[in-house]
Amino acid sequence: MKDIPAIQLWHAGSSSDEPGLLERCCESLLSDEELLRANQFRVPTSRNQHVVGRGMARRLLGRGQVEPEEICFAIEKNGKPYVTQPSWARCPFNIAHTDGLVMCGIGTECQGLLGVDVEKTSRRTDPALADRYFSQPEIEILRRCGSENVRRNTFLKIWTLKEAFIKAIGTGLRTPLAEFAFERIDSRNPVIRMLNPDLESIAHWSFFLMEPRPGYIGAVAFGADSAAQQPDLKLQRFEDVL
Ligand code: COA
Ligand code: MG
Repeated sequence: MKDIPAIQLWHAGSSSDEPGLLERCCESLLSDEELLRANQFRVPTSRNQHVVGRGMARRLLGRGQVEPEEICFAIEKNGKPYVTQPSWARCPFNIAHTDGLVMCGIGTECQGLLGVDVEKTSRRTDPALADRYFSQPEIEILRRCGSENVRRNTFLKIWTLKEAFIKAIGTGLRTPLAEFAFERIDSRNPVIRMLNPDLESIAHWSFFLMEPRPGYIGAVAFGADSAAQQPDLKLQRFEDVL
């Protein structure tokens, strides 16, 4: 029997102002080009997030077998980074950041499409956005929410799931968000329904919703070639391995 594929989801609390120990450590793992890019951010939060996300990815993809800065990334046409070298490190990975938290998902097998997203639960939400961009079944789910609080939470769950999916397929906002709908939003493993048949071509999808740390909501999307078993998700604190 084939092993169940695993996805590691690492999270780290990044600083919103001056770089701290985490940022300094991650900085030392970056390529010159990444450091240059990081230094172009004017807002410290954005700089810290970029540094921590890339540092984490390098460290984790390198698995202690290669210096993190020697991992080579290339960028797909819509901005998704992927590993080119060394060949054994070409695992699916994806980074997401929000105020105070950075997540990096890594697939332990070299196959599959992976997308992650994270949001702060206190972030401002605008119900008009749902009416404008979400699919009709999702709009209905939001309408049926009993209280403002539940509606807010449900909105954020759908939002992070949608973003994890468009990041997994790498198209970002080029894929209209109303072309797919999430169901079973209240479960740990929501499911997707493609409303545009063109999206059906890819993979068998697994989704995870979780609270990586108090005050944050995270989502993971993983697309595999076959409808094998649902992958396992392991959450880990990056600070513990620094
Ligand atoms: N696909 C997958 N990953 C991508 C990507 C793409 N097309 N483009 C960039 N990324 C990765 C990068 O690693 C990036 O971090 P880095 O530049 O520091 O390495 C990281 O994803 C950023 O992710 P996140 O923190 O989630 O950024 P974001 O929330 O601003 O959104 C996209 C990223 C890809 C979805 C982008 O298309 C976007 O502009 N989104 C706006 C937010 C939005 O409206 N979302 C809709 C939710 S329903
Ligand atoms: Mg995001």
